[in-house]
Amino acid sequence: MTAPNTVTDAALPQPPGTLGLPLIGETLAFFTDRSFVSKRHAQYGPVFKTSIFGTPTVFFKGPEGNRFILSHENEYFRVSWPPSVKTLLGPLSLALQTGHVHMARRQLLVQAFQPRALSGYIPAMEEIGDRYFKAWLAQSQTKGQLTWYPQLRDYTLDVACKLLIGLDNGSKTKLGELFVSWNAGLFSLPINLPWTAFGKAFRNRQGLLHELERLIVQRQAEDAHPAEARDALDIMLAARDEETGEGLSIEELKDQVLLLLFAGHETLTSAIASFCLLVAQHPEVLEKARAEQQPFIGQPLTLESFKKMPYLDCVIKEVMRFSPPVGGGFREVLQDIEYGGYRIPKGWSSLYQIAATHSNGEVFPEPDLFDPSRFDETAERRAPFSHIPFGGGLRECLGKEFARLEMKLFAARLLQSYRWELLPDQDLSMVVVPTPKPRDGLKVKFETL
Ligand code: HEM
Repeated sequence: MTAPNTVTDAALPQPPGTLGLPLIGETLAFFTDRSFVSKRHAQYGPVFKTSIFGTPTVFFKGPEGNRFILSHENEYFRVSWPPSVKTLLGPLSLALQTGHVHMARRQLLVQAFQPRALSGYIPAMEEIGDRYFKAWLAQSQTKGQLTWYPQLRDYTLDVACKLLIGLDNGSKTKLGELFVSWNAGLFSLPINLPWTAFGKAFRNRQGLLHELERLIVQRQAEDAHPAEARDALDIMLAARDEETGEGLSIEELKDQVLLLLFAGHETLTSAIASFCLLVAQHPEVLEKARAEQQPFIGQPLTLESFKKMPYLDCVIKEVMRFSPPVGGGFREVLQDIEYGGYRIPKGWSSLYQIAATHSNGEVFPEPDLFDPSRFDETAERRAPFSHIPFGGGLRECLGKEFARLEMKLFAARLLQSYRWELLPDQDLSMVVVPTPKPRDGLKVKFETL
């Protein structure tokens, strides 16, 4: 593959592929055909063009394509989500901010995810997890089964609400209710009618913002400057622009909190559910992971404890490879560029692919095999940008350490004390958009060991 650069030769061809029908392009096939991407890569090679969400879009495959996009943020590429996501996240959300403003906001928000802050989150994560484990035992006993996925979503939302905005039992509040339908419209055609997924999600965005404003104003009235930040909201309220000395506007606060709550629970639900499913399907992995947990039973868990669980680390990395919660990321092309001998015009969209990279046999041999040992220290000599569940470059996931902590804590306590068995007669295939989840909600029998 030739070195990528800005294009000088206007005669270069565009990437192979078809732009489909006017306006809708190939959007319908993209939503309905699970092999949409793999078929086109097989036909056209590592780079192909299509048109989705009303914009010509180039799909890049493999570590090299990922590196090209992720290491040229703001230069050749700028973050660009589909119109439905943009509208529903809101214009002042970090995920949509670019350039100087984006960097400044990241610096500010990252404080909520520093090791010291993370350490402080452990007791609340444990307490909420423990409450849910007990409730699942009771439910499984009385009903004979537990439909786990919606419960896992409640758990991760409760953790996010508590640690990000100090709200108890978030999933049982109006905010939690609104989130479910807001999320269902996130990746949809942006047609704002009362009965469309987008229309419903749009109305719920207004409801969510209203709830968030109420919480923020209440917090401001309580204690504008606590001695020590209790959560991400305190950090955001205390933040001041270095030059102007001004704080974040209420409009921005609402969009940023909405993003963190969304990013902080939907992806994690998917990751934790995939952990539960894949480990249950691989008894040898379960046994090894459980054995590693023996010294930690009944012990308080700290950031240090997790460093002593190398196998769990491999299992979680493999879960994130096998079933990455985020399939890829969209970017707008900022100038005509050349890649692999093709010309990609300014104004088009492009996508770096996480899921397709993780299932690429050239990068991960036998990609359909769930095998945590591929992440053994000795085996980890892979090309950069090949294992990228959290993206990379300037926009790498802000909450990745929070996510890792929550996954490990949950997994450790689950392995230490509980047994879960997949029930027969359920569809375990995955719905993939917006985040992978088992079609029938992951039905299990849940017991103590
Ligand atoms: C397993 C869990 C998670 C996965 C797989 C994940 C994945 C990702 C990915 C792939 C991106 C980059 C998107 C892009 O390139 O455009 C991203 C960005 C982001 N994530 Fe996560 N994430 C997870 C959990 C979290 C958590 C727990 C939080 C916060 C509490 C969070 C906050 C964010 C934010 C704020 C961004 C935007 C960063 C920016 O644009 O600068 N994520 N995440």
